[in-house]
Amino acid sequence: MTSQMMVDLVPVGEDVLEDLLALAVAEAQPGEVMPPAPGEPAGEARTTWTELREAAFREYHRRCRLSVTAPVPEVTWAVMAGGRIVGAARLALVDGDPDAREVGLWLGETYRGHGIAGEVAYWAVAAAQTMEARRLVARTVASPAARRSLERIGFEVVEHDDGLLGSITLP
Ligand SMILES: CC(C)(COP(=O)(O)OP(=O)(O)OC[C@H]1O[C@@H](n2cnc3c(N)ncnc32)[C@H](O)[C@@H]1OP(=O)(O)O)[C@@H](O)C(=O)NCCC(=O)NCCS
Repeated sequence: MTSQMMVDLVPVGEDVLEDLLALAVAEAQPGEVMPPAPGEPAGEARTTWTELREAAFREYHRRCRLSVTAPVPEVTWAVMAGGRIVGAARLALVDGDPDAREVGLWLGETYRGHGIAGEVAYWAVAAAQTMEARRLVARTVASPAARRSLERIGFEVVEHDDGLLGSITLP
């Protein structure tokens, strides 16, 4: 796989959702791919999959579907590369900060380290601009890969609440 490969973002309909969940269970940890399941404390390291977490993963993506009748504060897409589902990206409104949009991304382990994050960043900047945002922010656990990836894209990264906070001013 090369960094020149075409990356596409597709809606998470029911078929895509099952493929995305299969990838997440096989090649990622719950804590990397979704918010805490109902009843789970926010600070807990979530490293193993359970039925509760799989159900919460489905519900999370269902409530993040774009709707023409009801606005949603967060939208998710599956990321495709080389014709395969390789991970998921999200864009969300930021509470109390109307000029900002929050971006998130996870990839299956097989697909990490190939520059896909940079390709997704082009899309995230363009999408946030169409939503009249002035800044893009990213919050993540403090991992060297996440820091490196954010800095390479051009985010300014600071440590924040046991994790990393990246921000970039949009042109
Ligand atoms: C963070 C993440 C989205 C980066 O995406 P990516 O497309 O792999 O990013 P890049 O290809 O630019 O690589 C970034 C860094 O990942 C690290 N990396 C390289 N190969 C890797 C692999 N096989 N597995 C994990 N990390 C790897 C390297 O530190 C690399 O920097 P380097 O090339 O200068 O050494 C991806 O690693 C991921 O999904 N991680 C788990 C979820 C997560 O932490 N999300 C937060 C995103 S802000």
